[in-house]
Order: sequence, then C-alpha cells, then structure tokens
Amino acid sequence: MTVQNSHSPAPARAWIITGPTSGIGRRTALDLAAHGTVVLVGRDPSRLAEVEQEIHAKGGRAVPVVCDFSDIQDVRRAAADVVALDLPIAGLLNNAGIMPTSESRTAQGWDLAFTTNHLGPFAFTEALAPYLRDGSNVVFVCSGVEDPERKPAVVAGFRGGRYISAEASARGEWKPGGSPRPGLDAYATSKQCNLATVLALALEIPRLHVNAVEPGFNPGTGLGRDANAVLRFAAKYVLSPLAPLIKYWSTPKHAARVITRVLTDTSGATGVYYDENGKPMLGSTQVRDPEFSERVVAETRAFLALA
Ligand SMILES: NC(=O)c1ccc[n+]([C@@H]2O[C@H](COP(=O)([O-])OP(=O)(O)OC[C@H]3O[C@@H](n4cnc5c(N)ncnc54)[C@H](OP(=O)(O)O)[C@@H]3O)[C@@H](O)[C@H]2O)c1
Repeated sequence: MTVQNSHSPAPARAWIITGPTSGIGRRTALDLAAHGTVVLVGRDPSRLAEVEQEIHAKGGRAVPVVCDFSDIQDVRRAAADVVALDLPIAGLLNNAGIMPTSESRTAQGWDLAFTTNHLGPFAFTEALAPYLRDGSNVVFVCSGVEDPERKPAVVAGFRGGRYISAEASARGEWKPGGSPRPGLDAYATSKQCNLATVLALALEIPRLHVNAVEPGFNPGTGLGRDANAVLRFAAKYVLSPLAPLIKYWSTPKHAARVITRVLTDTSGATGVYYDENGKPMLGSTQVRDPEFSERVVAETRAFLALA
C-alpha cells in the first residue's frame, strides 16, 4: 500500500480537453495545467502548438492530439491516439463546439453543428470510457439555449432543442416550430443532446462521474465567428467588458474556473448540470425526462454504429 504524507508528491494525473485553442477551452486548458498533464485535442496543429508552448513556458505539461470532431473516423483515430499515450487520465472535458449561422454540412453530408457538437464528442467519449479509471470525471460544456423556456435564449432567437431523432438531426431536420434564424435549431438541438448524454450516461455508468456545465453567455469568444465584423467588434469590445455585471453572462476566465472546479471535483457528484457560477441548475422539461435522454443515447449509438 502506498502511504501518502505531506511530503509525498501529489499523484500524477492527466486531463483531456477538446477545443483548447480558443475562448473558454483555451483558458480552461491553462488552468488545468496546474492539476497535471493536459491532453490538448483540437483540429489545428499550429493553434495546438501555441497552447502547448504557453503551458510549457509556465512549467506545465501538455500533449497535443489532432482531431476534427466533424469527422467520426478521425475522432475514433484520435481517441486511439489518446489511449496509446497511456497517461493516468482523471478527467475528460468535451468543450469543442461551433455555432454556424447558416446550414452547413460535413464531408459526409451530415449537419455540421450536430456532428461537431454532439456526434463527434459522443463517439470520442464512448471510445475513451472503457479506458477511464473508476471515479474519473467526464464533463460536457452544454448550453441553456436547449431550453425553450429560458427567456434570454428565446429573446436571442432560440426555440430550444428540436430533436426528432439522431438520424433526422444528422440530415439537418428539426421539429417544426423552431427558430426563424438559420443555424439556431441545429445548435440548440446539439446542445440538448450533450445534456441528454450527460444525464443518461451518469445513470448508465456509475463508476464514472458525468456532469454538465452551462458556462454562461461569453460574448467575444470564437463561437460567434460567423457574425459580421461589426457584431464581432461589439461582442469583443463592448459586450465582453459588461459580462461580469449581467445575469447569465460570463467571461472565459470565470467559465474556466467553474469548469476546472467541476472537472477536478472529487466529491463523486454525477448527473449534475451546473450553471455559470457552478450552482446546480435544471435543464429543459424534455431533457429531464429519462426516457428522452435514454432515447437520444440509444439512437446516437445506433446511428454511429452504421457510420
Ligand atoms: N460562448 C458562449 O457564449 C457559450 C455559451 C454556452 C455554451 N458555450 C459552449 O462552450 C464551448 C466553447 O465555446 P467558445 O465560446 O469558447 O467558442 P470558441 O472560442 O469558438 O472555441 C471553440 C473551440 O472548439 C474548437 N472546434 C471547433 N470545431 C472543431 C472541430 N471540428 N474539431 C475540433 N475542434 C473544433 C475550436 O477550434 P479552432 O480554434 O480550431 O477553431 C475551438 O478550440 C462550446 O461547446 C460552446 O457550445 C459557449
């Protein structure tokens, strides 16, 4: 038996983070470096190298793994690469995401937002789960826009998750009555599927701790990169400084602190959805129905099995 005393070094741990090259993920990767080795999983090798160097410069350890979450074969290859690193993984953070403002497709013809935000992270998590040690944390960065009753999201044009089936979502089909603005139903549905995945996996795999974080509205991250130049300028230089003062809003610095706390938590909490300040919150009525969450997971598995 190993005896731990105040002079023993903390046990080595490693953390996987997707989307560490921008916005919330970048700040979180830097924070996580204080807790062990950070496995940086992203699509752009040069942007990954920048974050890796920043962590090394501060005395931390980081390993890059290239992965395009819109390509399921690439996701499975990247998961195998992570396993091959043979690191003592203590947590997986699914953070990578996009919000296109027009209908966009993957090379396979699937809806780009649904694939990048839900199918890719789902396949990644399923491929890694058998290799995660008991008690490891899995966290998904979700969004309150999945809830059609959430007022600020409705004002912004969202109409909540519009899930019909995993197959229909991959085809870019959403439940009628959705948003008049292109792209918003795809984004809200993908984020609802993230939360459904958390709630279902928390029950299905009790040896892992699976939780969700709603990071708050963070204006000025790369998520709004499709917006026109004026809006992007306003988001970065006008809205961002106001974020700490407004309910439901946040900054990458604050969001990273909350996410890092949830990812490194040792309390054993599972199936919890945390708000932008790290307080438990409720998802939409639909996502809280266990039958719905189980259906999302079962249909996603069946769809990916054929992919
Ligand atoms: N910002 C908000 O207000 C807000 C609110 C609620 C939830 N969220 C969620 O927070 C998460 C982070 O968003 P953010 O605001 O920080 O946006 P961001 O600055 O655009 O960061 C997104 C990250 O995802 C990566 N990514 C995008 N597509 C990818 C792909 N196909 N393969 C691999 N990586 C990919 C990006 O890589 P590149 O650097 O290569 O582009 C980037 O590192 C997302 O899941 C988002 O849905 C954000």
